[in-house]
Amino acid sequence: MPNTAVATPEQGQELAPCRASDETLELLLTRRSTVAGSMSEPGPDAGQLRTILTAAARVPDHRKLAPFRFIVLQGEARAKAGEALAGASRADHPDFPQERIDFEGARFTRAPVVVAVVSSVKDDGKTPEWEQVLCSGAVCQNMIIAASASGFAAQWLTEWYAFDRRVLDALGLTQDERIAGFVYMGTATETPLERPRPDLDALITEFRA
Ligand SMILES: Cc1cc2nc3c(=O)[nH]c(=O)nc-3n(C[C@H](O)[C@H](O)[C@H](O)COP(=O)(O)O)c2cc1C
Repeated sequence: MPNTAVATPEQGQELAPCRASDETLELLLTRRSTVAGSMSEPGPDAGQLRTILTAAARVPDHRKLAPFRFIVLQGEARAKAGEALAGASRADHPDFPQERIDFEGARFTRAPVVVAVVSSVKDDGKTPEWEQVLCSGAVCQNMIIAASASGFAAQWLTEWYAFDRRVLDALGLTQDERIAGFVYMGTATETPLERPRPDLDALITEFRA
């Protein structure tokens, strides 16, 4: 894959401590996921995907362990990977009609690009697993924000196959790895509507001495 279209800093380069950006705030305050089933072509091209993955990997990461990795599914590989989903569905649900098996096998083809974010916890004897798992969650969130900022619809899903050993084996995960999320990316065909939000005031308390 080519390098990102947006310049990324070199190690040791001096960076601005912060930069106010109404555009970023606007994106964060209005972003919505798009249902994977309603996505269409095009998805991010190689350069755009490189930028999205670069942003996704740029997360707070205690002890710089990079406890995550990416598996990119695009083109015909999506249907090939889907064979594991179809096979697992057929084995578990012999009663399923062929239509349903086909639906399961086609899940990855709902969007032009799907990235499996793999949580790959490192045992350095010091860094709690919890922190490393949180780090992978941050990767998924960065990814959907970067996809949005690149003009693409995105959805972070796990669905049943993120927890199915046969599917994980087919994707090449080790016994110790887990799926933090499948991030589906493509072009929105529907205008999202705002969804109910939690009452922020009910979530906030102020600790008082
Ligand atoms: C770890 C994780 C797994 C998720 N898995 C699913 C899923 O399997 N199916 C689903 O419909 N939504 C799932 N979601 C929710 C969607 O990503 C998304 O939050 C939802 O579509 C609402 O969209 P919003 O981002 O616009 O609030 C998951 C979210 C997270 C954080």
